[in-house]
Amino acid sequence: MIFRQLFDGESFTYTYLLASRPGGEALIIDPVLDRCDRYITLLDELDLKLVKAKDTHCHADHITGLGKLRDITRCITVMGQATTVDVVSMRVDDGDTIDIENISLRVLYTPGHTNDSYCFLWDDGLFTGDTLLIRGTGRTDFQNGSSFDAYHSLFERILKLPDHIKVYPGHDYKGDTVSTIGEERAFNPRLQVSSADEYADLMSGLSLASPKMMDVAVPANLSIGQSLTIDPEIVSATVTVEDAILQIEGNAVLFIDLRETRERQVTGIIPGSLHTPYLELASAIEDGGLLNAIVKETGKSLILYCAFGERSALALQVLKQSGFDKVTHLGGGMAAWTSAGAPTEPSGIS
Ligand SMILES: [Fe+2]
Repeated sequence: MIFRQLFDGESFTYTYLLASRPGGEALIIDPVLDRCDRYITLLDELDLKLVKAKDTHCHADHITGLGKLRDITRCITVMGQATTVDVVSMRVDDGDTIDIENISLRVLYTPGHTNDSYCFLWDDGLFTGDTLLIRGTGRTDFQNGSSFDAYHSLFERILKLPDHIKVYPGHDYKGDTVSTIGEERAFNPRLQVSSADEYADLMSGLSLASPKMMDVAVPANLSIGQSLTIDPEIVSATVTVEDAILQIEGNAVLFIDLRETRERQVTGIIPGSLHTPYLELASAIEDGGLLNAIVKETGKSLILYCAFGERSALALQVLKQSGFDKVTHLGGGMAAWTSAGAPTEPSGIS
């Protein structure tokens, strides 16, 4: 197993890189924009393919590396369902898993520091973001934070985990790197309260200054999809829901669903679409691959779609570079499709 805890000295952020083997798939948690070159070098040195990049929440103290890593590696960006970030490939909810090769992280929705804060449980380790720090907790005074939500997340969710679970925080300002649930329960001064009211009083008495990067970081972190929405190749090959529905009638088009099985089960699929998960796209389009064979045999053009239009935009670039010319992608993805009231069918039929 490969596990790296990487540090950004400007924002005191910890970034985590996980993979099950050299040469395999990798996942990164809370990457920092200014450190992306370092991550890319490390990925190369360890011979890893970055397939997912995840933020625990929308950060106020640094600009996220999600957008840059996606643009360089075409990885899937992941955030929680409660995020308001403009373009994220995949949104996960409490109880979901984030999966890469031989690694599965369980998602815990833990609002409080912000209303889009999530923790991730991986075997005996918990990536806590700013929900729980070593001998501290995340502030709750901006970005829809709530001391009462934080109390609930800490006492009803996080501290219900076994004592031996390791705590990997999103920041540390003292140089600590790891703790445990038992250690924090016993020694974290913020957790020595007996009620939500007492916790709220404690937090409201902190009178903290705003993070110095806040006015820059939050707007930047809410618009990570910008590079995709202005790329001329992508813009010219983006179809609306209305365009896509019109093309169905001619029966010369095939919808390709790039999402993962869980996402398909939640929302259903576009009727008759073919499932080609984004991470399996390369093998599907090479000579002898299923998608390659179908296109050659039927001559149909393809409309790629995913959850929100990010994976399909990246896949569009890959297909164009591989010589597929009759291909477009559905702007806004399945979210746009369902909000327009367009037809769906349960996954498993096609
Ligand atoms: Fe934060």
